[in-house]
Amino acid sequence: MLPPETGLDAWLRYAPLSETLRSQHKQLSHIVALSDGSADPVSVAGQELQEGIRKILGHSLTVSSRHDGASSDSAIVVGTVSAFQKSGLSAAVQSLPALEEDGFWLDSGDGNGAHIVGQNERGALYGAFEYLSLLAQGKLASATVRKAYNPGASIRYVNQWDNLDENCPHGSIERGYGGKSIFFRDGFVLEDLSRVRQYARLLASIRINGCIVNNVNSSHELFNETNLEGLGRIADAMRPYGVRIGVSLFFDTPRGLAGLPTSDPLDPAVVKFWEDLTAKLYKRIPDMLGYTIKANSEGQPGPLTYGRTLAEGANMFARALKPHGDGIVMYRAFVYNHHLDEADLKNDRANAAVEYFAHLDGEFEDNVIIQIKFGPIDFQIREPPSPLFAHLRKTPVICEFMVCQEYLGQQSHYVYMAPEWETILGFDMRIDGKQSLVRDIAGGKVHGWKRSGYAAVTNVGDDSTWLGHHLSMSNLYAYGRLCWDATEPAQDILLDWIRLTFSAENSTVIDTIRDIGMESWPTYEAYSGNLGIQTLCDILYTHYGPSPGSQDGNGWGQWTRADDKALGMDRTAATGTGNAAQYPPEVAARFENIETTPDDLLLWFHHVPYTHKLKSGKTVIQHFYDAHYDGSQNAQTFPKRWASLKGLIDDARWEHVAFKLAYQAGHSLVWRDSVNNFYLAKCGIPDEKNRVGNYRWRIEAESMQLEGYEVVDVTPREAASGGRAVVASSPTKATATTRNPFPTGKRDIAVNYYDHTGGHARYEILVDGKVVGQWTGDLDTRLLHAFSEHVDGHSATRVYFRGVEVKEGAEISVVGYPDGKDKAPLDYISLLPEGVVD
Ligand code: GCU
Repeated sequence: MLPPETGLDAWLRYAPLSETLRSQHKQLSHIVALSDGSADPVSVAGQELQEGIRKILGHSLTVSSRHDGASSDSAIVVGTVSAFQKSGLSAAVQSLPALEEDGFWLDSGDGNGAHIVGQNERGALYGAFEYLSLLAQGKLASATVRKAYNPGASIRYVNQWDNLDENCPHGSIERGYGGKSIFFRDGFVLEDLSRVRQYARLLASIRINGCIVNNVNSSHELFNETNLEGLGRIADAMRPYGVRIGVSLFFDTPRGLAGLPTSDPLDPAVVKFWEDLTAKLYKRIPDMLGYTIKANSEGQPGPLTYGRTLAEGANMFARALKPHGDGIVMYRAFVYNHHLDEADLKNDRANAAVEYFAHLDGEFEDNVIIQIKFGPIDFQIREPPSPLFAHLRKTPVICEFMVCQEYLGQQSHYVYMAPEWETILGFDMRIDGKQSLVRDIAGGKVHGWKRSGYAAVTNVGDDSTWLGHHLSMSNLYAYGRLCWDATEPAQDILLDWIRLTFSAENSTVIDTIRDIGMESWPTYEAYSGNLGIQTLCDILYTHYGPSPGSQDGNGWGQWTRADDKALGMDRTAATGTGNAAQYPPEVAARFENIETTPDDLLLWFHHVPYTHKLKSGKTVIQHFYDAHYDGSQNAQTFPKRWASLKGLIDDARWEHVAFKLAYQAGHSLVWRDSVNNFYLAKCGIPDEKNRVGNYRWRIEAESMQLEGYEVVDVTPREAASGGRAVVASSPTKATATTRNPFPTGKRDIAVNYYDHTGGHARYEILVDGKVVGQWTGDLDTRLLHAFSEHVDGHSATRVYFRGVEVKEGAEISVVGYPDGKDKAPLDYISLLPEGVVD
């Protein structure tokens, strides 16, 4: 049996290679880490090589900091170019290809030692991790690597949305689904930063060089004396891994912390406040990378609050940073009015970034970088790239992704997002009629920027899985890899991650997880939101479960404009919001015209009747129905395919993933039925295949004989089968009973119930008085996504009891034992013939 694993080491487990592969590696003599210190990236590289080689190959090597001539021929030497030169190893670095900042040269040797040469110390560490990655995947057993590696972008950052929680003891993370903060608790930086150190190790291994440690919705308490010291400790913990830290600022800090009457960026006292604070920060963190700023967005104050331009605000911070080094302002383009009037057909949140920022190009200090979310709205299941990428020429940009799956199942569903990111990175904006891929814009190539690149909202937490789901770590891994080389195919990256995380050599493991991973995004898109309509989750609450109606009728601007005849946003210049025209002419023309708009973005750009025919020949509404059936059907195969890996990976991780995939399969059916029934009710056009609204094997709880249960209307209606469910009116026990109306046979009994916060109700299901299943509604403590307090599309879930013999006419009862606010809610049961999904 394989030893249990927690996930803490993620892809840095250094699992032993098989004896066959091990035997193909010659014994190395020792490791030389050309370093003067003990906590610098090069010495960390030495220790990492030592540990990795011991675990992967079983070779125990010593680490020395000096190279001693001939006996070093079979050593691994790691260091910077200049350290190589100083150590008498000039020959090894004499004719190296050009190395850029953070780049490295790797010569894995032909069994006789290796050279890992960094342009700087960080590069040397990256090289060590690359060597170990190749070794752990068995890729060095029969091949020698001699190669220069250079970054495709200089900015490769992660953003943590960790809260200070000064008023409540939590350690919460905004949109975090992997446990509590590893940085903050109860208003202060944590004393024990060991997880921060481990996080920095993971980040360095994927060549991430910066971490913004706190929520973009920041707090002025970040800068009290205790926290300034704490931020210094965070920087100290991450520095040995070459990860620099930055902080997110609260714009009104001068008022909040220093009691100034204003936070006006042109007010001399405000300017001085930020200068002083910046000086203090640099005193403790001399290599601070800079400030992230969310201002005039979603209720946050900003320069516009004080009658100043966004550039005037950004520049104030930029000037405060300048005297101290190379610090940058990462000014977020996520500025929009969240009280937009939907009745005005010209209004469009997707237009906001260009409207707020395009005309300011040229007005920013040279250390201001505009951080743009990859799409115009907000990390939806599918978006076109933000048009702002085509407007800024003088001001460098950061393309912002989201590793945590806020709108994509919050790590209770698995979605490998690199294929979605690929569609953005490879999109050609055709600036000035020339090829201008988003990845070349962000990488600085198109406009010749030195500093630009990527940031991703990662939101790891203190759960040992980091993100709450072992498989979701493929997203963090892929993000780092794409920052470095945005041309790498998502599938290649996934394969490396699988080999490192689960098995380097077992093809069943590798192929199965690859298939689940590569299918996961299209699958989730199919059962959540199709044709560019966005993820149809509840945008007014937790952004998790289905609630298509929540998109409209409010000021947030994530509208679908669905009525009884048509749906989709008309973003054309001719009749709509004009958003299509924000793109350069060739792209604008493509999106303006319904014929040339790809189907997967049809409803993003066009308002069409439900009966509009797609390029596939299907109508929009039938596509919705079919996609939701196909997607949820495929999600049912994930746990089955995962089951085939039992014993091939350790039980601890296997069980955790099996649990999550089984939950996802059940919730995908909630998605299917909610979305399909919502649109059926809207447009009245039936499903050609007669599935939507017809559930042959289903028995509604409200139609059962109830004792201690009462019938309730569920909001939104489509979150319950038939719009209604039952909840216990009795505080102790409630029973719903029915008789099997179907012929005798083996059944997979599915029970759809609701699991929300406020208690852990228990349930039993009995057939003819015999208990055939029992469970507890405790998913809120096991799944880690943002949980609902209500009976709704977030809390709706399914449990199965398979292969139960049920006689025709048998008495079937579900007994609920309520607990606190959890009134053992029940939606329906399905008595499915084996193999039927419904
Ligand atoms: C989303 C998210 C918020 C976040 C915001 C941002 O709207 O739901 O929690 O604050 O993005 O990026 O600033």
